[in-house]
Amino acid sequence: MKPMHVLFAGLFALSAGITPLFAQQKNYSLDFKGDKYETQTISINGTDHKIRAFERIVYVRNPVDTTFQILNIYVPEGYFNGETINGYTARTAPIFFPNRVGGYMAAQPATATNTPAGRPGGNGMPPQGPGGPPNGMGGNRGPSTVALALSKGYVVASAGARGRMTKDAQGIYTGKSPAALVDLKAAIRYLKYNDKAMPGDANKIISNGTSAGGAMSSLLGATGNNNDYEPYLNALGAAPAKDDIFAVSAYCPIINLENADAAYEWQFNGVNTYRRGGPMQGSNTAGTDLTPEQISVSAQLKALFPAYLNSLNLKTPNGQRLSLDNNGNGSFKEYVKAYVIASAQKALDSGKDLSVHSWLTSSGGKVTGLDFDAFVRYQERMKTPPAFDALDLTSPENQEFGTATIDKQHFTAFSASHSTVQAPRADEQFVRMLNPMYYIGAAGTQTAKHWRIRHGSKDKDTSLAIPVLLATALQNKGYSVNLELPWDRPHSGDYDLDELFQWVDQLCK
Ligand code: DHB
Repeated sequence: MKPMHVLFAGLFALSAGITPLFAQQKNYSLDFKGDKYETQTISINGTDHKIRAFERIVYVRNPVDTTFQILNIYVPEGYFNGETINGYTARTAPIFFPNRVGGYMAAQPATATNTPAGRPGGNGMPPQGPGGPPNGMGGNRGPSTVALALSKGYVVASAGARGRMTKDAQGIYTGKSPAALVDLKAAIRYLKYNDKAMPGDANKIISNGTSAGGAMSSLLGATGNNNDYEPYLNALGAAPAKDDIFAVSAYCPIINLENADAAYEWQFNGVNTYRRGGPMQGSNTAGTDLTPEQISVSAQLKALFPAYLNSLNLKTPNGQRLSLDNNGNGSFKEYVKAYVIASAQKALDSGKDLSVHSWLTSSGGKVTGLDFDAFVRYQERMKTPPAFDALDLTSPENQEFGTATIDKQHFTAFSASHSTVQAPRADEQFVRMLNPMYYIGAAGTQTAKHWRIRHGSKDKDTSLAIPVLLATALQNKGYSVNLELPWDRPHSGDYDLDELFQWVDQLCK
């Protein structure tokens, strides 16, 4: 019989994603084994490429779950023959780091063959359990993100990570916040620790992910080397190395979760029907009316957003303060509109006919105005208020913020006090550790220098305010940010890989 305090310590450690004291563990080596590979041939646009595949490497000394805490590394064969590919050598090649996290679920690492581009349906969406995102949306077309990256001469490393439903053999949850991020950070540390032994330049790691995976990508970029994660990394036996990265590619990052409910209602208040659909909500249903209670919740949440926005003290690149009045109007709303207008302009310039949209005005080939409320009605509401911290605990985020022994919790004051199920509220530190906004440029933190963020203009999984806030906070602190809201794109990622890889090449060459 173990003394109670040891048991409690074990449980506490588990609740924080730390390895239990009483677990039997094997020690895994953290040294990259250059001779343990398989040669694979991948076909990209009709050309065969030979690669070396180093697969299923356990990336921490003391894993909790070897189904997910594993890393796949792919290297163009040419680098072993002294070749130069796309201007890169074995020493200078960037390391592209895509994750397949979706819906805050556990994820396997990507492979060179199984992950067609264009997630949903491609990169990042393995078959999932109930509540998880389905496969197949958007179609499985084209070569995989990994294969295309390899054809550009990048080394590709993709790590798996635990997720909100991951349990150990005892039924203890091991993947609640911040486990997925800690896992990906541990994999980054493995790459940095082995930089000399491996092809690729670990000072040029570019992370990539979509939705919850985009959240992970932006968290990797925001939180580099921050001490908050240190105890959890230590407990796993992560490699003794840093975990900051060079650049972030994030598609529709589902982030800033404790403010996302208010942001959603700032945008969608007044749209009183919703249509589910999209990865987290099952198949499309016909429009359903909000209940009077939900309409009231929407108004209460919308009213919380201006105070949050104003507290951030954000500015446009020209130095104009971004603010909102009590009704949610003001320069920040105009700024979000400007991103939508820029997106429409790009669509117009590429020959798209936008005259069907009466809420857009243009003259002489220039988009001159946008009726934001009408545009939002065109977007349609997808989620019911509160969009993330559901009052009945039914959201994926409620489950992400559970503990070792509690599956689902609230994570905002609003939903904890309006709960219909009297559920407990998550430890604020675990909510904070999954929000990149707190970490951008913080003391002791190495935030990635370069950011490319994409969020489709028709993506209503979260408010358009969320990517604009992220980009603006980064820009205001001096990081280089490229944010676009691609025209009419629904919730998806990796749909513009040629442009993404051009951006990477611009940074790395
Ligand atoms: C994802 C989508 C959501 O709407 C959400 O709330 C969380 C995650 C996703 O696609 O990963």
